[in-house]
Amino acid sequence: MNGAAALGDKNPPLFDLGDLRLRPLRLGDELRLAEYLGDPLVTEHTSIPPVTLESLAAAVRRDIAAYTEGTSCRLALARSEDDALIGMCGFNSWSLVHRHAELAYELAPAYWGRGYMRRAVEAVLDWAFHSVALNRVHAFVMTSNVRSIGLLERCRFVREGTLRQFRVARGIPRDFHVYALLAEDSGLNYSDRD
Ligand SMILES: CC(C)(COP(=O)(O)OP(=O)(O)OC[C@H]1O[C@@H](n2cnc3c(N)ncnc32)[C@H](O)[C@@H]1OP(=O)(O)O)[C@@H](O)C(=O)NCCC(=O)NCCS
Repeated sequence: MNGAAALGDKNPPLFDLGDLRLRPLRLGDELRLAEYLGDPLVTEHTSIPPVTLESLAAAVRRDIAAYTEGTSCRLALARSEDDALIGMCGFNSWSLVHRHAELAYELAPAYWGRGYMRRAVEAVLDWAFHSVALNRVHAFVMTSNVRSIGLLERCRFVREGTLRQFRVARGIPRDFHVYALLAEDSGLNYSDRD
């Protein structure tokens, strides 16, 4: 793993996971994002709105800029053999002041059920807690999103409560659980770090 850079450095981190890698997003990734985000199976338990190639290209540009601004760190999960994007994993709403961020991820359905996202999540959590001194990572998950809930619980996230009608998905306000993992849960204390 070579993701030692701090958030806000010029270059986002790169994580070598063997057959997979987490790498910075780049223009062109919107083609593969559009393939899976156009699949209702992927979006049905999320608040992801309908997308177009144009909106995704704009989102990729925003994500690249947001990393250098220090406000988010969203990475492409790609196959090492051909660098093709198969998903996304990283952090939204990164607060340097409060040392917390929101974990976010999604994976093309052809790759579900292989433990790929768990490996990706564990890599970014390790980096977030050990290299860039986050103290808390939280995730908001629709109460019907069984797969995502399973992943968070396998990664030792704790359910803190349920936010009623927290986000609107396809016109309907939906309930979301809030899950969180603290640095101390991963063996670190805030006071261990500067
Ligand atoms: C949420 C999502 C990423 C979970 O994907 P996933 O592949 O189920 O997640 P994991 O990486 O934890 O894999 C777990 C599955 O792989 C299996 N698996 C196979 N080999 C494994 C291994 N070596 N290690 C761990 N799990 C393994 C597990 O048994 C489990 O399968 P099961 O669900 O059939 O029991 C995916 O469903 C998705 O992209 N959903 C749509 C978008 C979304 O909801 N995003 C989250 C919004 S909060």
